[in-house]
Amino acid sequence: MTSPDTPALPAEGVRIAFVGKGGSGKSTVIGHLLAHWNEDGVPAAALDADEPGDEENGSLIEWADLAPLGGQVYPAPTSSGIRERAKQVTPAGGILAVDTGAWVRKAGGMHFAVLSAVDLAVLTMAPTRMELDRAGSILAALDHLQSVGAHCPELRILLTMTNPSAAAADEQETALVDAGYQVLRTRVPRSDARDGYGQAFGRPPRLVPDSSMDLLAAELVDVAAGVVR
Ligand SMILES: Nc1ncnc2c1ncn2[C@@H]1O[C@H](COP(=O)(O)OP(=O)(O)OP(=O)(O)O)[C@@H](O)[C@H]1O
Ligand SMILES: [Mg+2]
Repeated sequence: MTSPDTPALPAEGVRIAFVGKGGSGKSTVIGHLLAHWNEDGVPAAALDADEPGDEENGSLIEWADLAPLGGQVYPAPTSSGIRERAKQVTPAGGILAVDTGAWVRKAGGMHFAVLSAVDLAVLTMAPTRMELDRAGSILAALDHLQSVGAHCPELRILLTMTNPSAAAADEQETALVDAGYQVLRTRVPRSDARDGYGQAFGRPPRLVPDSSMDLLAAELVDVAAGVVR
């Protein structure tokens, strides 16, 4: 929940890309964030840059068609138009969340275009060895942008699908922090209950005070307010 001392966001707004392995929870997280930001009075919208194709999971834009999410969801144009479009649809003084499909490393592709269009990249990652290995490709892409002097967003890692009773997330976080990465304080637990995050698609996101999505919304406003361009 935001409090009266919620930091102000820059007048031109902040853009946050969500990247990560297929099924790591990107679209589910964004749907909930839109709802919480809306409730907290933070102007919010999303751009769905998950290219239509053989997606296993429902896309954000399909979810927005089925239920109000709390913010407009726009389809993304081709990768070459994404920077311009992202700027156009970023709410003043608010946040634009950019959803992406399963990460693929393709120079000139959608993921690189999205990274060039945002201020902050949130890498969603479940606490498994395999996810860490896959994430290497995303981290290398960001390193590449930086090394060639291209625009490179700040990075935060979001642990998703965590099991609060297992040590795996703590171990993953320690390894990431030791490697120099910044991990968000809030984690998104795996929740398969009837009203849990795994069942949210197609319905209005549930607004549960102090839930992980609520806390994540507030944490990301803090991070976005401090982002350096
Ligand atoms: N915290 C969670 N707990 C349990 N299930 C979840 C959770 N988050 C998402 N899911 C479920 O896992 C699947 C993948 O989630 P989601 O579509 O959000 O991932 P994604 O990263 O956007 O995937 P893609 O890359 O294919 O777009 C969906 O069936 C969703 O309902
Ligand atoms: Mg998705």
